[in-house]
Amino acid sequence: MKIACLNDLEDYAKGALDSNAMNYYSSGSQDMITLRDNQNAFDRYQIRPRVLRDVSKINTNFELFGQKFDYPIFIAATAMQKMAHVTGEVGSVRAANSRNINYCLSSISTSTIEEVGKAAEQVSNNTRLWFQLYIYNDKNKTLDLIRRAEASGFKAIILTVDTPYLGRRLPDIRNPFKLPSHLSLINISSAKQDFDSQTLKSGENSSWLARYFAENINPSLTWDDLVWIKSVTHLPIIVKGVLVAEDAKLCVKYGADAIIVSNHGGRQLDSIPATIDSLAEVVAAVNSKIPVLLDGGVRKGTDVFKALALGATAVFVGRPNLWGLAYNGEDGVKLMLDLLFEEFRLAMALSGCTSLSQINENYIKASPYFASKL
Ligand SMILES: Cc1cc2nc3c(=O)[nH]c(=O)nc-3n(C[C@H](O)[C@H](O)[C@H](O)COP(=O)(O)O)c2cc1C
Repeated sequence: MKIACLNDLEDYAKGALDSNAMNYYSSGSQDMITLRDNQNAFDRYQIRPRVLRDVSKINTNFELFGQKFDYPIFIAATAMQKMAHVTGEVGSVRAANSRNINYCLSSISTSTIEEVGKAAEQVSNNTRLWFQLYIYNDKNKTLDLIRRAEASGFKAIILTVDTPYLGRRLPDIRNPFKLPSHLSLINISSAKQDFDSQTLKSGENSSWLARYFAENINPSLTWDDLVWIKSVTHLPIIVKGVLVAEDAKLCVKYGADAIIVSNHGGRQLDSIPATIDSLAEVVAAVNSKIPVLLDGGVRKGTDVFKALALGATAVFVGRPNLWGLAYNGEDGVKLMLDLLFEEFRLAMALSGCTSLSQINENYIKASPYFASKL
């Protein structure tokens, strides 16, 4: 069967990946309420389309931090991509950069920062790369990551703030998740990662990755750490994992250059709002001072359109990148992106918008079906 949309790629990946990888990639935390809601919530909004406008030319370009992008659709940081395809992060970054959009590399990737930087350079002389940072207990390890990202041409640092501890992902506990032995979290090879989840003590009912976080990642971060990161790099700092107005205002106060409204793809705290439901609150709090981006549950062109109408500058896809890799490596990720681009262009045209700047709150409303249930 021909792949027609991103959900078809997910169906394919379910049959292609082993259960260790599939459980890790697909799961959310606890009852996965937030995971499901991330996608379902988009259906609670409707687009208000305008007609009889010349939509023969659609322009999806925009600029952010002085860089031009062909679409407001980026690839989110997801860990350990070599479980999906042998090329892993290199396949993904090649796909994203060949389409002139951003690729975000996870701190806990299975390809090095340098390999990913080089791979991007091979397909574009204007590389589009952001580095996602976890702050390690050892500040020197953290600084080392930042310096290597700078030296490899990364253009911004994404500071993930929703992961002081790893969320409780039941499939990874029931079938203890373990990174296959031929792979490693290669960027910080000195970080402790050789424990075996089979031997976790009872009561330490967590996965290998939860243990990695407990051993290595600093849970004592505060807003002062944002100030510290700003002081050690010239790169823009984007805070990822903000859902409420109070924190959005603090981001502005402490000097964040942008915010990503994110709940980590429903993998951290369960029973928190879907990202599209949190977007308007954050956008209002930020009051146009810094750009607001969004990830979580974006699977269709209309999802992208709705997020932009509610004030997002751009959106990210996380899992679809992994499904694209599982389907056909770099070409599978290109296919995933091209499908989403095509859907988004059509959503724009059929809504009567020919450029991103025209998409605003006049084009969206709450679905009357869901509004009547409130
Ligand atoms: C398998 C997987 C691994 C992830 N790894 C990271 C990570 O290393 N760092 C991070 O900040 N977010 C990570 N995320 C969260 C993503 O950056 C993003 O917030 C999320 O995937 C967006 O939701 P979506 O998958 O529905 O598109 C991960 C998500 C998944 C599914």
